[in-house]
Amino acid sequence: MRNPLPPVPGKLLELEVSDDLRRGTPLATLIAAPSEEDGDAGLAEIGGVRPTGKAGDVQTVPTGGVRWLAGVGDGEPKQYRKAGAALVRAVSSALEEDVKAGQKAFRAFAVELPEDAGAEHVEELAFGLLLGGYRFTVTADEPKPSPRTVRLITRHKDATDALERVRELAAAAAFARDLANTPSNVKTPAWLADTAVRVAGDIPNLTVTARDEKWLVEQGFGGVLAVGGGSAAPPRLIELEYRPRGATTHLLLVGKGITFDTGGLSIKPADGMHLMRTDMAGGAAIIAAVRAIAALRLPVKVTGLVPAAENHVSGSSYRPGDIVRHYGGKTTEVGNTDAEGRMVLADALVYGIKKHKPDAVIDAATLTGAMKVSLGVRTGGVFATDDALAERVTKAGERVGEAWWRMPLLEDLAESVQGSLGDVQQAPGGPGGIVAALFLREFVGDVPWAHLDIAGPARADKTYADVVPGATGFAARTLVELVASYA
Ligand code: BES
Ligand code: ZN
Ligand code: ZN
Repeated sequence: MRNPLPPVPGKLLELEVSDDLRRGTPLATLIAAPSEEDGDAGLAEIGGVRPTGKAGDVQTVPTGGVRWLAGVGDGEPKQYRKAGAALVRAVSSALEEDVKAGQKAFRAFAVELPEDAGAEHVEELAFGLLLGGYRFTVTADEPKPSPRTVRLITRHKDATDALERVRELAAAAAFARDLANTPSNVKTPAWLADTAVRVAGDIPNLTVTARDEKWLVEQGFGGVLAVGGGSAAPPRLIELEYRPRGATTHLLLVGKGITFDTGGLSIKPADGMHLMRTDMAGGAAIIAAVRAIAALRLPVKVTGLVPAAENHVSGSSYRPGDIVRHYGGKTTEVGNTDAEGRMVLADALVYGIKKHKPDAVIDAATLTGAMKVSLGVRTGGVFATDDALAERVTKAGERVGEAWWRMPLLEDLAESVQGSLGDVQQAPGGPGGIVAALFLREFVGDVPWAHLDIAGPARADKTYADVVPGATGFAARTLVELVASYA
């Protein structure tokens, strides 16, 4: 039987920049919404179609040189992302229809940009085109036909350089989506580790090491072993080291790698439990970001750590009331086995800081359902012990189109994570996202630290901007851009 899983990472559309149209390539053109000067009648017809110009609208022209009209609304860069995403979806459906109708499948299409489109517009359009058509299906059928190449018709000279960066950023988001979308019957901690090792492949200056359960026992990773102990698939620690020559700044990125979260003995309700296959989205963002950082040859030392475990129910599960000894010796009183993310992150944070002595630490995790209540599903929460670092994260997010909001590490709640039987308490109650962050802070010490809680935006159930339902790859692009800000 052939492997029903799509390749991970999947292939991205190829982007080319050109200043001339090639005959025979189906063409799309971008159109701004009518202004007041256009009057009540709106825009002039093209091939018998009156364009709306609305961002996200794609109209098909039945005859003539142009096949699609894609609206860009007020022409702000952000609308170009929306237009690119809507366009690539429309082009893919048209291709499918063509094939069904027995016509020859086109492999490339072209998009003509308005004269005044700048580098930022080109970048946003590219994000939309590269990610808006993203699909992940596990099927016995042949994959649906999709276009391979898109040619951007622009005279903008910087476009090619700008696109190199965008391509890596989009590849990082898509790879993070692939990892998080992979079902948990395939995605064991060992699979995740092996995939990270394989993908690092021959990228210069990048080494990926997968540590097994034996190593974790020897080293005393009590949090990872407690959480992973209930599963038949043993835990791993994935360590990614990017060491460009001459770099001085060293950043540590840590990601929650729970390959499935049943909640453990504090079991989750059945409704929605299936969504917990994306509970390693933070880890996926780290793996994909480090890969992209190395591929872009950014001159910054980066270490990525992904403690990977499955939180399952069995006779060897950890229990509420257990006291767990983390790497480095600190002990945690377990209150709720469903608060497993912080258990594995605590080990990895202490290990990473002790071993690598980074200048700053950033972790990313689908840590608390409470964050979905606080910020909804399109914005990530940033908790930080350092204002400059928090600002850097938010600004990096703005540059790549991911929204972040600073959350407080409320001092009057710090008391609540202090233990009575052990050193710290894992799930003391109170505002979920904040208390979880305060717990993690106990394991960080003095190094500047930012904690990104992405429980909301890591997955989507609606299509918006360049996002499609399923895993979004959220945080991967922000992390690459954040590291680039230290270059
Ligand atoms: N993986 C969940 C958090 C989550 C919830 C992510 C919904 C994405 C969507 C996490 O491990 C968890 O279960 N957290 C608990 C903590 C509680 C038991 C203290 C939560 O948020 O309810
Ligand atoms: Zn979880
Ligand atoms: Zn949980």
